[in-house]
Order: sequence, then C-alpha cells, then structure tokens
Amino acid sequence: MTDQILTITTTAGSYPILVGSGLLRELPAQLAALGLRGRLWLISDSAVFPHYGPQIEGNLRDQGYTVSSHVVPSGEASKELATVAGCYDWMIAGNVERRDAVLALGGGVVGDLAGFVAATVLRGIAFVQLPTTLLAMVDSALGGKTGVNHPLGKNLIGAFHQPRLVLSDTDTLATLAPRELRAGWAEVIKHGVIRDAGLFALLERYAAEQSVLDATAAVLPALIRRAAKVKVDVVNADERETGERMLLNYGHTLGHAVEAAGGYGALLHGEAVAIGMDLAGQIATHLGMWAEADVLRQRQLLHAYGLPTALPEQLDPEDLLERTLRDKKVRAGRVRWILPTAIGHALVRDDVPEALVHGVLTQHADHTQ
Ligand SMILES: NC(=O)c1ccc[n+]([C@@H]2O[C@H](COP(=O)([O-])OP(=O)(O)OC[C@H]3O[C@@H](n4cnc5c(N)ncnc54)[C@H](O)[C@@H]3O)[C@@H](O)[C@H]2O)c1
Ligand SMILES: [Zn+2]
Repeated sequence: MTDQILTITTTAGSYPILVGSGLLRELPAQLAALGLRGRLWLISDSAVFPHYGPQIEGNLRDQGYTVSSHVVPSGEASKELATVAGCYDWMIAGNVERRDAVLALGGGVVGDLAGFVAATVLRGIAFVQLPTTLLAMVDSALGGKTGVNHPLGKNLIGAFHQPRLVLSDTDTLATLAPRELRAGWAEVIKHGVIRDAGLFALLERYAAEQSVLDATAAVLPALIRRAAKVKVDVVNADERETGERMLLNYGHTLGHAVEAAGGYGALLHGEAVAIGMDLAGQIATHLGMWAEADVLRQRQLLHAYGLPTALPEQLDPEDLLERTLRDKKVRAGRVRWILPTAIGHALVRDDVPEALVHGVLTQHADHTQ
C-alpha cells in the first residue's frame, strides 16, 4: 500500500506523505518511527470525529500513547481565532509540553486550524496531518500552509508550519458527502492540467469506465497519490510560493471571485474552481496559447466528475471582474493568470487584457449551459 512514499523536503526538514487504504491502523507505529513519543492532542470536527476518532484513540492507547481529543464544529466557520483560542485553553490547561504533537483529523478546515495551533502553541510543536477529504489529501494537507480566516477575508492569519507526517487513509472518503468528494476532483483535475498529462489521461480513462466516482474504488489510492505528487513536486521546487507554487492557483483567480460572489456556501470551493478552470481555459484559447480542443477536453472531464463549468446565471460579469482585480494575487495592479499551454503544462501571465476577460465572462454564460 505504501510502497511509493512521497517526500516533501523543506528548510525545516523532510516528511513522508503516505496514501493508502487502511493506513490509520498504522498510525501508532508511524509516530513511533518518527520518534514522536509525547502526548498527542487530536483536533477534529463534529462530522469526522464520531467516525474515526474513538478507533484512533483506542489504537494509540493500546500502543502506550496518551491522547486527548478536542472536537470543533464542522464547517469553515470554525477556522477563526476564537476556535484557536479554545484549542490553546484546552492544551495549556492540560499542561502541553514541547515534546507533544498535534494530530489534525479532518478536511482542510481542521488541517489549517490545527496546524496553526501547532505552529504557535509553545512557539511551535510537532504536527501530523490525517486528512479525510479528497481536497485535503491532494492539496491542503501538503505544503505547510496553516491558518485561519479574519472577518475581512479568508486565510489572512497564519504561519508556515510543516507537518512531520501526512497520513491519508483513503478509506475515510467512504463517509464523505458525495458532493464534497466531487469538489475534491476539481483539484485533482487541476493538477493534471498544470503538470501531469498522464494523470489527466488516467482520469479520462476511469471516467469512461465509470469506476472512479465511487469512494471505495480500488484505483483511488494510486490516483490520489499521483495527484498529491504534483503538489509535492511543486512545493519541493518552491516552498514559500514565490514562483512555481503559483501554478496551483490555476482556476482560482476567477474561482475565488465566483465562490465569493455566489456567497460562500452556495458553491463549494471545488465547484467554483471548476468554473474558474473553464474560464481560464477560454482566456488561454483567446490568447492563442491553448487549443480549443483541449478546453473541450477539460470541460468534458470536469463534467464527467460531476463538476459544473457554467457561470451561475445570477452572477454579474462586472462584479466578477471587479472582485478579480481586488484579488490578493494582484501585484502592482496586474492580475496574475495561470494559463495552460497544453494538457500537463501551464504558465503565469500578467498581461491579459481586461477586455478579453470581460468578453469571456459575458460569452461564457451563453455557451456552456
Ligand atoms: N493550507 C492549504 O494549503 C490549503 C489549500 C487548499 C484549501 N485550504 C483550505 O481547506 C479548507 C477546505 O477544506 P475541505 O474542502 O477539506 O473542507 P472541510 O474541512 O470543511 O470538509 C468538508 C466537509 O466534510 C466534512 N468531512 C470531512 N471529512 C469527512 C469524512 N471523511 N467523512 C464525513 N465528513 C467529512 C467536514 O466536517 C466538512 O463538513 C478551506 O478552509 C481552504 O481555505 C487550505
Ligand atoms: Zn483550491
């Protein structure tokens, strides 16, 4: 199951990314192998903990670990400073020590929150990611970005804090809501488009066979490992997001605008990213960088994995454009667009005319229903 171990290497050291079925059973042995022998502080959410928390606690205690758990409400609203403070209260009252470790059991919300707690309590203690969503397995649990939201914007408070281990047990996806699983496929497809044509082709093949949408499909661990490898490679090349890591924002420039304009909660992040990828693809085509046939291929694949590509009718192109210009990726007044040049390759452009984006946004509503 874990024969092909991925490794992220950063200035703070290296850590393994394990992806496989049934891996949570190996957690005590994996922690011991890393020399983590202190108390364990498990942070999870109310939708995840009941499924996996008690079993994990039992396995750890059987192997001599002391573990306590703290469950926060499920959902993005928990990614805020008040929840962080609640974690500090729990850990400090319980006499947390430098040799202890935080375990994050959940999706990106729990991973970002628990990672930030681990980065800051006692000026930083060890941290282990146990991602339970597809998005977290291929994206958010990898790379060490942690943090919480501020009332004025998402992810504005945070720290880089690399985990000591990322252990993705793909069996946990069986309890994830199907819509959340589909949203995760958007990031997997994104990884194929920006850096791995072979992954893209595999996804096409499995879509044709109708076998992969099921969370228990035998091929899932291998596909997730391959999608995770794209992020691993990019992080290894660019730990602090100065260059190559920007490619991971493919589909996110307009995706974030679509997500925010629709009102958070109306569209899931991955659904908005799928729409953003289609729009970015069209922009690339209009610039003559990408073949029309590849935009269609991408659209078909997104649809095959249950994702939307059409802009919701109620969204106003002017409003989306305005939001995009305000996006934090704007530097010196220019939006940085991640645009594909081929399936498996993308680059950054900051010279896309606003009028062209406007044209794509207004046409898009008509063409892709
Ligand atoms: N740090 C990074 O680099 C990075 C990258 C991308 C996204 N993010 C962040 O990730 C977050 C989104 O992550 P997400 O999509 O995983 O959302 P999430 O953590 O909110 O999980 C989605 C929903 O599924 C539930 N859930 C999770 N796993 C489950 C399981 N196995 N069984 C049943 N229910 C389960 C959760 O309780 C939640 O309701 C955002 O806050 C985003 O900002 C961070
Ligand atoms: Zn994303």
